[in-house]
Amino acid sequence: MTFDFETRIDRRGTGAIKWDRTIATHGQAAPGEAFAGDGPPPIALTIADMELASPPAVLEAMTRRIAHGIFGYTLPTPEYRAAAAEWQRTRHGWDMPADAILTFHGVVPALYLLVRGLVPPGGKVLLQAPVFPPFFDVVRRNGCEAVIDELVLEDGRYRMDFARLERLFADPALGLFVLCNPHNPTGRAWTRDELARVAELAQRHGVQVVADEIHGDLVMPGCRFTPFGSLDLPAARKAITCNGLSKTMNLAGLALCNIVVPDAPLRERIAALIMGAGAFGVNPISEAGFVAGWRSGGPWLDALMRHVDGNRRFVADFLDERLPAVRLVPPEATYLLWLDFRNLGLAPDEIGERVTTRARVRIENGAAFGAGGAGFFRVNVACPRAMLAEAMERIAGALGSNR
Ligand SMILES: Cc1ncc(COP(=O)(O)O)c(C=O)c1O
Repeated sequence: MTFDFETRIDRRGTGAIKWDRTIATHGQAAPGEAFAGDGPPPIALTIADMELASPPAVLEAMTRRIAHGIFGYTLPTPEYRAAAAEWQRTRHGWDMPADAILTFHGVVPALYLLVRGLVPPGGKVLLQAPVFPPFFDVVRRNGCEAVIDELVLEDGRYRMDFARLERLFADPALGLFVLCNPHNPTGRAWTRDELARVAELAQRHGVQVVADEIHGDLVMPGCRFTPFGSLDLPAARKAITCNGLSKTMNLAGLALCNIVVPDAPLRERIAALIMGAGAFGVNPISEAGFVAGWRSGGPWLDALMRHVDGNRRFVADFLDERLPAVRLVPPEATYLLWLDFRNLGLAPDEIGERVTTRARVRIENGAAFGAGGAGFFRVNVACPRAMLAEAMERIAGALGSNR
């Protein structure tokens, strides 16, 4: 079966944050302001959702659910948990227990809930930067302190410095480690060996791990994603994993995710936190879409990742030819490209300004991703090739390319 990843769908006027909202996110000019005035229509390659329609099987299931006509209070069905568990088992080799699944309204809200519920005020939360900027807000807004472990970029690939990680884990005030696997924005899908070393450190120092695995299904052809919870080690069995289909099948607006807690006493505690937030049940349309996605969305996802990989190659070739000073950090997962502009000879703010106002393209300024992010920009390539090509052409023009 073939799927359409080339039709351009106009999202303007739908309330899409990426296209419509005038919000000053991540230190960049708000689109409403920056894109006012004359010039070609703006192109937004920012926030991690896709410019592509969800899988036909998901759309059909949600349409059927709408036709049912009643949308009362709903809990996840047994099929929901079974389909989620089966997906992890068949795609990623994790025997994720179906009864370990709790649901919530999104991974970011889940992280707020977990930090608030598990870390005392003033406690410390370990993050690995550069990282998805809302992680910093989650920690700060809960009155906690973010401890930053800066990832090391070596030969075009990020790695963890385990000696430093061990020192940070040894701090008795450390309440939680938020592992981003695969990692946004560096594109690393951590290997089994790396995850085992993390699990050993967490066990040795009694640190609770929360694994944000929302990008886990978005694996580049030839690469592999290892769920942290699939490791047969005590800290992995005790880990809390956030996963779901919001990134995988472009369903983020449906506001549904799993919080997977195999450890029964911890699960009871987190279930109580969920009830304490009054966050009861699921949206029935989301539920139907997720079940269909897990059951039937595999071929679509495989085709999507071939398309994303093609877009990655397109950008790599484009940079080689037109902007050779800009380097692409090759991703193992996610549809986000992390581009290194440090050798271009322009200050990051100048690059951001030119891309936004001259090219009328929006990309994310790496400075917002914390330590090690300055001089990098993140580009979302989950879009039709023609849209990406036009954006790259305009960016090259604004930055003074080879041609
Ligand atoms: C690492 C990471 N976690 C969580 C989210 C957002 O998840 P949700 O939409 O379920 O809150 C994103 C979105 O970009 C992300 O990159």
